[in-house]
Amino acid sequence: TPQTVLVTGGAGYVGSHCVAELLDRGFRVVVLDNLRQGHRAAVPSDAAFVEADLADMDALTRVFAEWRFDAVFHFAALSLVGESMRDPHLYLHGNTVNSLNLIRAATTAGVRKMVFSSTANLFGTPERLPIDEETTIDPGSPYGESKFFIERALHWADRCHGLRSACLRYFNAAGAHPNGIIGEDHHPETHLIPLVLDAASGRRSHIEIFGDDYPTPDGTCVRDYIHVCDLADAHLRVLPALETRSVRFNLGNGTGYSVRAVIEATERVTGLTVPVKVGPRRAGDPAVLIASSERIRSELGWTPRFPDLDSIIGSAWDWRRRHPGGYRGPALAQAAE
Ligand code: UFG
Repeated sequence: TPQTVLVTGGAGYVGSHCVAELLDRGFRVVVLDNLRQGHRAAVPSDAAFVEADLADMDALTRVFAEWRFDAVFHFAALSLVGESMRDPHLYLHGNTVNSLNLIRAATTAGVRKMVFSSTANLFGTPERLPIDEETTIDPGSPYGESKFFIERALHWADRCHGLRSACLRYFNAAGAHPNGIIGEDHHPETHLIPLVLDAASGRRSHIEIFGDDYPTPDGTCVRDYIHVCDLADAHLRVLPALETRSVRFNLGNGTGYSVRAVIEATERVTGLTVPVKVGPRRAGDPAVLIASSERIRSELGWTPRFPDLDSIIGSAWDWRRRHPGGYRGPALAQAAE
């Protein structure tokens, strides 16, 4: 019999790519999403959909009464570093209380496995690179702190209730599913690659580089971009490990690209020119973040299928061309092809 899984935030960017992977591999999927960032159109009709907020304990109790879940994938959260610096309470309260509700509902229902969407922001500005699982945790923002608190709550849920968990610390999720149906669409969009693509296509006048005086080779910040489908694959690979233990893995490609390198790659991939302006630094941005994912590679045999920047950007570009304006705009590709 197929396993049944709950995916909170399954209508969001990383969550929807994980839902696609779960359905491909024969899981029965229930998506719970409040649709504040998520998109109903990102959830395929072969997944059950519940529109609810994790703050609503009664709704959660009903979901756990209706289905018996073999595992819970927990993506639903606020996820903007900058917003969390302006309104820490929103994150320190909202992300943690919602996750505590979910953990309580799951442990009460006897669920044994949870896969949790954590973040590289746990490590703030690290003292050495690449960032592995032994790197000191010192969150860079209230957002990162909220994720760290949830990791600790999951540690105790294992000790006290036997809920095994995988905490996956994503570096910079990017790209889109090759099916062309799902992709990245935030409102407002703050992420580099979708903004650069819109600058390339003329939907935005230009991309502003947030500082070019960092201590990096070209002065712009360096990040480790990882394809969202490689993230989704990692979520499924950890499930067997959860039979025996809880795990924590850092997820990146182990290669850093500067903001200027992303812009140049976008020009190469699209054949278009990206108008650029250099602005001031964005508060809270570390100069360089590069992951070591040696642990998940050696322990679980995970290897990224789309490690190179051009294929990551190429997949994001394919989706963007099919869905100019994102999920809310018209899907043009079907008509054009
Ligand atoms: N950037 C620009 N101009 C823009 C947007 C971004 O120069 O208009 C730069 C940023 O300064 C940064 C890089 O592009 O150096 C990437 O920025 P993103 O906003 O795309 O991503 P972040 O690295 O800031 O944040 C991402 C996730 C967070 C997560 C963090 C972990 O969005 O959720 O990685 O390191 F916490």
